[in-house]
Amino acid sequence: MTNLKRRSFIKAALATTGSVAVSTPLQAMSRPELPSNVSFDYGVASGDPLQDAVILWTRATPLDANPTGPVKISWELAEDAGFTRVLRAGTVETDLARDYTSKVDVRGLKPNTRYYYRFSGANEQSPVGRTKTLPEDEVDQIKLAIFSCSNYPAGYFNVYQLAAQADDWDAVLHLGDYIYEYGDGGYATQNAAKIGRALPQDNSGEILTLTDYRKRYALYRTDAGLQALHAAAPFIAVWDDHEVTNDTWKGGAENHSADEGDFYSRRAAAVQAYYEWLPIRPPMGETNPQIYRSFQFGDLLDLHMLDTRVIGRDQQLQFANYMDEKGNFDTRAFSLDVASPSRTLLGEEQRKWLRKTLARSKGQWQVLGQQVLMGRMHLPVELMTSFYRGGDKNLTSELIGLKAASLRGEQLSEQQLQRLQNAVPYNLDAWDGYAVERETLYQEVREQGKNLVVVAGDTHNAWYNHLKDNDGRMVGLEFGTPSVTSPGMETYLKLDERSAKELARGMSVLVDDLQYCNLHQRGFMALTFRRDGIEAEWKYIDNIDSTEFAEVDSHRVTHKLV
Ligand SMILES: [Fe+2]
Repeated sequence: MTNLKRRSFIKAALATTGSVAVSTPLQAMSRPELPSNVSFDYGVASGDPLQDAVILWTRATPLDANPTGPVKISWELAEDAGFTRVLRAGTVETDLARDYTSKVDVRGLKPNTRYYYRFSGANEQSPVGRTKTLPEDEVDQIKLAIFSCSNYPAGYFNVYQLAAQADDWDAVLHLGDYIYEYGDGGYATQNAAKIGRALPQDNSGEILTLTDYRKRYALYRTDAGLQALHAAAPFIAVWDDHEVTNDTWKGGAENHSADEGDFYSRRAAAVQAYYEWLPIRPPMGETNPQIYRSFQFGDLLDLHMLDTRVIGRDQQLQFANYMDEKGNFDTRAFSLDVASPSRTLLGEEQRKWLRKTLARSKGQWQVLGQQVLMGRMHLPVELMTSFYRGGDKNLTSELIGLKAASLRGEQLSEQQLQRLQNAVPYNLDAWDGYAVERETLYQEVREQGKNLVVVAGDTHNAWYNHLKDNDGRMVGLEFGTPSVTSPGMETYLKLDERSAKELARGMSVLVDDLQYCNLHQRGFMALTFRRDGIEAEWKYIDNIDSTEFAEVDSHRVTHKLV
């Protein structure tokens, strides 16, 4: 880091502390003065734990209809849930400029330690939250709960509620689509009114302004399951596209048009509201969209949270641009474009940072927490084009049958082989659309001899991939978490449960590196890291239409280090 760069870094770090109260030892046990009349309608949250620090969060809604000046509340952090051993306390101010949200960055804590915290106004106390600092030195086990894609109008956040019932998470990872930007009548809103999840009148359109984004976060935070999970464990979160708008890339988005105003102003509003409402410590301050950052869980794992969306992504390729009116696909032109060495998901700065950070990280496991699937998921072109027409069951079974036969060693005709080998990536919004950058990353990981684990969200379905380089060498493992409520492939392809299970089995046959997928259930993923291996468990619930739910299925895989 040059001096100049260091100075600007310090400036950025100071900018963070302008709006976030940082608790230092001097502040410890200071007497709260003049707490305001507030209500804590959105619960509490904690996040971005370090070995000696954690962010505490709440929103203090002023009860005075026309509040003037800032609102002041007090906070306490204790060793026990009954607050008989309060270790730290202080006051924090907030106001309309940050939507009455408050963050305290509590410092000077002990590693690998559970703490309890709460906020108080003059008249009311917040619920109690539970949090935990990261371990340092030797640690034998880390357990993470991993989520993505919670869409309020699509259903109740029972998946969060299920995870909140466990009390042994070291941290919760949220891989994005924490909110969705659509208005009434938009994506996944069909059942909303019927199940009591309609968007409120004052926030029922597509969100565009800072006020719109803030109200959307407030709405989502009324969900009991989400409040319970935030209160149960520290979050480590990144955004995906819908925290801004669908299919965001560095210069725009699929769901942003010129008549919706300047894209960068919208993005700045989205980023501001995200930082206000999430218990996060943005590495370059709260006005900078740089969100990528690392967490060290003792000597067992290093977690690198990436941004494959906002900061560096080149625009997605579109299959439609390679298809003629008759539905013929120009495989050659497409293959040339997708193999362009300049295409990037991360952007140059983030890629450099990741390379350096991976090189110096010594943990047994190197985990990339990010949005989109990294595994190679190529499907026969004719199957892909049929998906565009809503799917073709017979064709799907025929191709799966052919692939199964070839795997059994049966002789296929030249034409049959051609049908299987003429394959293209299924999802161009994922790493498959940026294949050269992925291969570069794989080679770096191989050269450095790291145990790579990638976690992904975004697709609404569950996946387990072997990550292999272009020469077929194993580079790592990928675990994809299903959505909390957003509809998955079963909805796009109008599959009933049996057909969705059948297709899931078929996909694992058709796609070489795919080991498991679930295409129809909502849930989350628990990953347990140990010194000699990993255990992944996908947990599924039975419904999202009411808050009465049950855990109905799970799937577990283990991977031992050799
Ligand atoms: Fe999503």
